[in-house]
Amino acid sequence: MKWLILMHVLGASVWVGGHLVLSIGFLPRALRTKDVSIITGFERGFEPIGIPALLTQIITGLWMASIYIPPTHWFSLVTTHHQYLWIKIGLVLGTLGLAVHARFFIIPKLTNQNLPSMAFHIVMVTVLAVALLLTGLSFRYTYL
Ligand code: HEM
Repeated sequence: MKWLILMHVLGASVWVGGHLVLSIGFLPRALRTKDVSIITGFERGFEPIGIPALLTQIITGLWMASIYIPPTHWFSLVTTHHQYLWIKIGLVLGTLGLAVHARFFIIPKLTNQNLPSMAFHIVMVTVLAVALLLTGLSFRYTYL
């Protein structure tokens, strides 16, 4: 469990930290200067680290969840741990939906015209990332 938490927290640092840097640092500058290469440049650098981090989160997260709750008992909301588990699964599915849509439908033809739509995706993924972090912490101390 100790190594799983370490990997999970490292992955969380990359995923949440990367999106906060993108939302607070890079995105306002891209919107102000109308320079989409600021976003595409960041994405190119972040993707090879961010995608493995997200996959690490999903694998270690499901693993730890199966330690808290045996998988045969997952389909219920009887305890707060069950509730946090399903909140996390919902937040991850929302993240995957937004990320896939941005990666395959917006980034390949990113211009000044669809920059606001890209901005919306970036901010939403960041909000979901912080929500995942708070839900994760809530397994031990109630934040949500
Ligand atoms: C980008 C996605 C994710 C982020 C940023 C994230 C973040 C976090 C953080 C910061 C913690 C607190 C660790 C601690 O208290 O020691 C945590 C714990 C946890 N997360 Fe995640 N998580 C993500 C995805 C997932 C997924 C997909 C699952 C499974 C469905 C999951 C299940 C858990 C569990 C069971 C814990 C409790 C571990 C413990 O404290 O004993 N996480 N998560």
